[in-house]
Amino acid sequence: MRIFVTGGAGYIGSHVVKALGSLGHEILVYDNLSTGHSWAVLYGRLVQGDLANAPFLEATLAAFRPEAVIHFAASIQVEESVREPLNYYGNNVANTLNLLAAMDRCGVRNLVYSSTAAVYGIPETIPVSETAPLSPINPYGASKVMVEGILRDLAKARPFCYIALRYFNVAGADPECRIGQAYAEATHLITRALKTAKGEYESLSIYGTDYPTPDGTCIRDYIHVNDLADVHVRALEHLMAGNGSDVMNCGYGHGFSVKEVVAAAKRVTGIDFPVLETDRRAGDPPALIADSARLRNKTGWAPRHDDLEFIIRTAWEWEKGNRKENR
Ligand code: UFG
Repeated sequence: MRIFVTGGAGYIGSHVVKALGSLGHEILVYDNLSTGHSWAVLYGRLVQGDLANAPFLEATLAAFRPEAVIHFAASIQVEESVREPLNYYGNNVANTLNLLAAMDRCGVRNLVYSSTAAVYGIPETIPVSETAPLSPINPYGASKVMVEGILRDLAKARPFCYIALRYFNVAGADPECRIGQAYAEATHLITRALKTAKGEYESLSIYGTDYPTPDGTCIRDYIHVNDLADVHVRALEHLMAGNGSDVMNCGYGHGFSVKEVVAAAKRVTGIDFPVLETDRRAGDPPALIADSARLRNKTGWAPRHDDLEFIIRTAWEWEKGNRKENR
């Protein structure tokens, strides 16, 4: 199958490109390389382009004639979205409209879309299912809710189908160590903890110890990036088999507190790095845990790496630079 992948040079996108490429699919990655890297694209062709450049986007899409699009390219940091909402609505909503308009004009009718657990805000029930109310508490989550609404409307108006995948906390690296998280500035908990263990930061801050959770720190459902890559392969197969549009949570169904993750990172690295307890970070819900029954039942997906220490170990190998040569 020909698959057009926006943001395929990024962290999650590159792992999905690897999974799809190894299955023999023909891939074109469209990425502005603002946070992605050309070395991370292990399969297919990379076109450096911005979703804001609508004419170039449409010309690239028209020339490639994909059967499906996977849309990763987006801004993804909760705290930054609180400070810079216009950037988030611009990049995540307006640029997605450019993509959808180009797909519409080129007759591309299948989309797998990267959504997020942040659409739920502070869920009333845990684990949270797809039918829970959407009430985001930060512009990042709000931008994803807006796009999900646009997709719903488009699927009513056109022969267009999509699966929106609501990611929980994605972590870890490809165990072959060819790709992994490589942002200029680390903000995610596991990466930040491991970089602190390496000595890149003086200490790790725990953002808030007064949340209504057993140890007072936030709880998240951490999913290994290769399990999430497998979710995309299965979601795409499900979509192309004509099963219609859907929305699916992607997580393991249980969570760990920040303190538990820090303890696991110390065990895996064998380094007792300094930790400070500080104020809450803006926009953080106390707990996010996925009910992923829909994903499992409809696509047959099952986790292979549901093990926090394994997740951290793969990220640690990557951080230490034990990476294999790329192509
Ligand atoms: N945290 C710290 N110290 C740090 C970094 C994070 O205490 O240095 C805490 C955060 O406050 C939060 C938890 O660790 O409670 C996880 O934070 P991350 O930044 O790793 O991830 P988020 O939960 O904020 O967000 C991630 C993705 C979002 C996605 C969300 C869904 O970045 O895109 O998971 O669960 F929406």
